[in-house]
This record gives sequence, structure tokens and C-alpha cells, in this order.
Amino acid sequence: MYVQIFDKKEEACQASFELFKEELDANPQAVFGLATGSTPEVLYQLLSESDLDFSQATGLNLDEYFGLTADHPQSYAFFMQDHLYKNKPFKNKYIPDGSNPDVNIETARYNKIIADHPVDLQILGIGANAHIGFNEPGTSFDSKTHLVDLTDSTIQANKRFFESEDEVPTQAYSMGIQSIMQAKKIILMAFGPTKAKAVRDMIEGPVTEDVPASILQKHPHVYLFIDKEAASLLNN
Ligand code: F6R
Repeated sequence: MYVQIFDKKEEACQASFELFKEELDANPQAVFGLATGSTPEVLYQLLSESDLDFSQATGLNLDEYFGLTADHPQSYAFFMQDHLYKNKPFKNKYIPDGSNPDVNIETARYNKIIADHPVDLQILGIGANAHIGFNEPGTSFDSKTHLVDLTDSTIQANKRFFESEDEVPTQAYSMGIQSIMQAKKIILMAFGPTKAKAVRDMIEGPVTEDVPASILQKHPHVYLFIDKEAASLLNN
């Protein structure tokens, strides 16, 4: 794992931006694995304001709330449109369909999309419980796309986007850990003190399904771009 600690999250997002640019320059048809949430917001702003051309590229998202349609303002489909796609048209945009109640059909559909579009560069955030995507602690490292019961800690962390806690979906479709690990390169960004324990466990702890992000220790090309607060519990 290549770990770089920045004073500010803006600097970390600039470093991620440079890797996106490098990937796109090398291959205009590259497949970008995309995350939502607060962590990549500045990166998406930098991409939106750039002159990069993603019109031949593919965007493939990690996860989506179960039960929300793409036009719901808190859906991840809506987030992607708002933060990136409205400014940067991509050739293909994929995200699990949260409005599909048939779990078998939806997970098979998304697994096929992932198989047909191997990810060149994956961007990840991390949950305070060390989830990646919505793969909560205890998820099998062999998992593919699945329907997840969100943990209370994830619901608490994400309620800030909703009017009340009751409105936060309790389930989500998520790309599995096995699929995330198949990306050729991975960038994980983490900012702020609430991520410090997860970051320490991910980097310095044992590789265990109790700490989903710890599997990244086994990936050959991982960049961890974190700020000082998120790095504050690291020992080395
Ligand atoms: C979102 C995702 C999640 C988030 C994580 C951190 O698509 O996959 O793993 O990256 O929950 O969320 P933020 O960035 O809001 O702290």
C-alpha cells in the first residue's frame, strides 16, 4: 500500500485527480469505479472544472440505496448526476438500480456489467466501521454484488443527508469485495478524525473480514490518500 498523508483534503483530491488524468490520457476508454458520499466531492469538482474528456469512458458505481429511484435526491444515481455527470458526460454510466425489488435479477445484472467492464481505476471512501462500498464488517471477501443490511453506524453516519433518520434506507445494493479487488488500481481517500480508527485498522491491523478495508493490504496497486486527522492513530 502506498500511503500519502496530506495537510488538507483538497491536496489529497488533487493527487487523485492527477491519477484520473493519467489513466484517461493513457486510455480514453478507461473504466472508472466511482464512489459517492462526502469523500470524493472535491475530486468530482476538480474533474468537473477540468478540460478532461470522458466521452469515451465508463463510470461504474459501487452502490445504491435499496428502494430509492434514480430521481430521488438522496439516491446515489442523483448524486452522480449532480456532482459529475451533468458536467462531464461519460459514454456509459452504471449504478445498481435501487428501485429493482428483485434482488436476484438486479445482482446478476450488475455482476454481468462488472464482468463486461473491468475497472481500471477505482475510487473508494471508507466507513467509520471500515466498510468499503457498502460491504459492512463480516462481509465475505469472496462477495460479489449483494443486498446489504446497513449497520446502525452507517445509518447514523448517513442520516445527515436525509431530513430524518426514519428516511434513511436500511438496505443497499453493493458491489462485493471480490469485485472491488479486481480493479487494476485503487485509490482510497479518508478525511477527518472519525476515520482515524478505520484507517489504522485497515493499514496496521490483521487482514480480517471484520475490517473490510483490510483486504486492500493484499492488492498490488493501492494508493491511500489521507489527511492528517485520518492518519492520527497510525503508529508507523
Ligand atoms: C459510497 C460508499 C461508501 C462511502 C463511505 C464514506 O459510495 O461506497 O463506502 O465511501 O461510507 O462515506 P463519506 O465519504 O460520506 O464519509
